[in-house]
Amino acid sequence: MAMRKPMIAGNWKMNGSFELVTELSSAINKVKSAKIDVVVFPPFPLISLLQQQGITVGSQTVSEHNPGAYTGEVDAQLIKQCGAHYTLVGHSERRSIYGESNQRVADKFARAQQVGLIPVLCVGESEQQRVTGQTESVVAAQIDAVIDKLGLAALKDSVIAYEPVWAIGTGKTASPEQAQAVHKFIRDKIAASDSDLAQGLTILYGGSVNEENSEFLFAQPDIDGGLIGGASLKADSFTAICESA
Ligand code: G3P
Repeated sequence: MAMRKPMIAGNWKMNGSFELVTELSSAINKVKSAKIDVVVFPPFPLISLLQQQGITVGSQTVSEHNPGAYTGEVDAQLIKQCGAHYTLVGHSERRSIYGESNQRVADKFARAQQVGLIPVLCVGESEQQRVTGQTESVVAAQIDAVIDKLGLAALKDSVIAYEPVWAIGTGKTASPEQAQAVHKFIRDKIAASDSDLAQGLTILYGGSVNEENSEFLFAQPDIDGGLIGGASLKADSFTAICESA
């Protein structure tokens, strides 16, 4: 694990209940320590409830718009008022199911920072893109959309999560070496312009992380923690992953 403070984030996706909030906040509060940052991204209606249990929370997306006639969307300022500190932007499921482009993700990134939320920029390639050697160009384009809109310095107050699409929800976790190679590519890309920013940037890995593989992933020099899906819904698994960081 690099010198950066490890972060373990749980992305509940469209799962959760009041009972799960009670169960998981109790378990997380037992493993929290000054050595790691633990963040939970629940569905919108559970953000305040989790925050009131002492858990650092984030939203799974935000509207890129200011408040207005956007039925069904959720304003970033309101999410912050609910107690969120972070928001995911550009999760692969938002990109594939809801058609979010790199440009739209950059707009969401900008809106999040405008209200003081820390964006977690999710990037990653599909299996087809990996097997055809496009991983680095795909990831670079996803990051460049933010840099082109806001400038490199905007990455300072952000987190990047590398989530190979082919590893999400599949049980096919990237090997520590595969993940490290892309994390190093991301960090080197940013270091080419600003080495201090690059060294201070938290880069998480996501994609079938569990209590068996987490310690080997987190031992890699450019992997600063994980963005956990399925395993974040199970108290024993999530706390074991936190303890492995
Ligand atoms: O955002 C994290 C998520 O995409 C990873 O899901 O179930 O493969 O850990 P999972």
